[in-house]
Amino acid sequence: MPAREYVTAARKPEPPMPASVAPDPYITRRRITWTAVCAFLGASVLMFIRFFFPRALFEPGTTFRIGQVSDFGLGVDERFRQSHRVWVVREPDRLFVILAKCTHLGCTPNWIESENKFKCPCHGSGYDMEGRNFEGPAPRPMDRAHVEVDSEGQVVVDVSRLFVCPPNGGCEFNHPQSFVTVSGGRG
Ligand code: FES
Repeated sequence: MPAREYVTAARKPEPPMPASVAPDPYITRRRITWTAVCAFLGASVLMFIRFFFPRALFEPGTTFRIGQVSDFGLGVDERFRQSHRVWVVREPDRLFVILAKCTHLGCTPNWIESENKFKCPCHGSGYDMEGRNFEGPAPRPMDRAHVEVDSEGQVVVDVSRLFVCPPNGGCEFNHPQSFVTVSGGRG
């Protein structure tokens, strides 16, 4: 008896996918690996560079212009408290600049216009409109900054040069560079 022959239907071979469509798994894996390696190296380099730029607060300069004397009305001007931590005080005959720093432990007092005084929120020290302490634990008036009028008539403040008024005498508030006269000249 002849061996039975099985005839199988010849399967039609599928046409090969174009090279541009069929992803090569080896190449794909290699790409993923290299992408991860490059990302890791990039992050490492960035962190290394960041090391040379420490997180530092860049404070405003110590010398700055505040405008002309005539730009200020009588009383306490708070325009520069946020940006430079100072108040500008204009009196009938002079203008001076108070550093907004309590002389007790360094908090920033608030100007309370209705009570015509500065009040420190930390321990309650009070200062009058000229920054002179009259209540609470503050040992002396708040310091004043160096001021001068430049050639363009602008008042220039330098908070790196302060005038102090110690409780035991030697007050510097009449120093000619601790204020400017309202006419723009020196007092
Ligand atoms: S810091 Fe102002 S009263 Fe203490």
